[in-house]
Amino acid sequence: MVVVKTVLAIETSCDDTSVAVVNKDGKALVVMSATRDLDHEPYGGIVPEIASRNHSKYLLPLIEKAVNSEGLGWGKIDGIAVTNRPGLMGSLIVGVVTAKTLAQAYKKPLIGINHLEGHLLAPFIKDPEVEPSVNLEFPLIGLVISGGHTSLYKIRNLGEYQLLGGTRDDAAGEAFDKFAKMIGLGFPGGVRLDHEAVQGNRAAYDFPRSMINDDTYDMSFSGLKSAGHRQVGLMKPDEIRERRADLSASYTEAIVDVLISKLERARVQTGIKRFVITGGVSANSRLRQRAREWSDKLKVELIIPPLKYCTDNAAMIGLAGILRLNRGEVSGMELGPSPQSVVGDFL
Ligand code: KG4
Ligand code: ZN
Repeated sequence: MVVVKTVLAIETSCDDTSVAVVNKDGKALVVMSATRDLDHEPYGGIVPEIASRNHSKYLLPLIEKAVNSEGLGWGKIDGIAVTNRPGLMGSLIVGVVTAKTLAQAYKKPLIGINHLEGHLLAPFIKDPEVEPSVNLEFPLIGLVISGGHTSLYKIRNLGEYQLLGGTRDDAAGEAFDKFAKMIGLGFPGGVRLDHEAVQGNRAAYDFPRSMINDDTYDMSFSGLKSAGHRQVGLMKPDEIRERRADLSASYTEAIVDVLISKLERARVQTGIKRFVITGGVSANSRLRQRAREWSDKLKVELIIPPLKYCTDNAAMIGLAGILRLNRGEVSGMELGPSPQSVVGDFL
């Protein structure tokens, strides 16, 4: 079997257009992204049509730039990895069609990657700017928390992801974004709410922690969102502005309490002591702090990617892609996008 030494990776599942080149050691040689929050901001959320139009505009120039940087060139690219599921259909189509076209034109093997697998492997990307790097070793417990997912997995090996549980309704990222909008923080809300919360009193408001004591790994954040809505409905605009930090801190604490309780359940029930927290919400400063305290106290190895690899990026797709290509896996030209994780897939 020919060893794939470098892979070009393409990520367009949501609104970020990202391209990376990753080598067989999992090192990100190039990562380039075009993030166009400003185009979505007036609408208070991601508009799928704008996202796919932006991918069409920015993807090819980004690929051109990435492939021709760091002394690379197409001759040094041995394969192409692309996110083909789950995500926004229009956005995925741009990435998948582009990847298939390039794979055919340059005669490179192609591999379709599940976006969630990318997030789960993101902590293991090697990046000279981010030291120390962590080696990929199993078994692991992985918590993916993003705008669309909040899922806990037991990972026995590459490709062996057992879903322990997850949210039954809203994702944690969605709960953050919606509440941020309610308190006037606009879009993108999660990161703005995080900054607000730093100065706030975490006990100022008593928000619900649904399913925290439930004997499963399942979670629910829609009740919290409704409670947030009710609380804000009781307040005048001036008061909301004045109490924004307290609202943000109290709301964050409710989400973090639930997430930490599920991590603790997994520690006790599986006996595994290696944990990964990943996805956009893993950028949250309070969650990072609480998770560190939890892991230090209980002697758990906790791996959270550096901020640049928490949110959507192509390097994580490149890492999953090169590992799979070097196991002999390859996708055919029938590879298509899917808004959901494919049935039968662990993810
Ligand atoms: O993984 P990601 O970049 O995209 C998806 O696959 O969804 O996650 C985006 C989510 C958004 O809901 C965003 O508000 C949230 O991650 N997020 C945060 C923070 N940074 C991003 N939520 C809380 N605190 C943050 N610092
Ligand atoms: Zn994501």
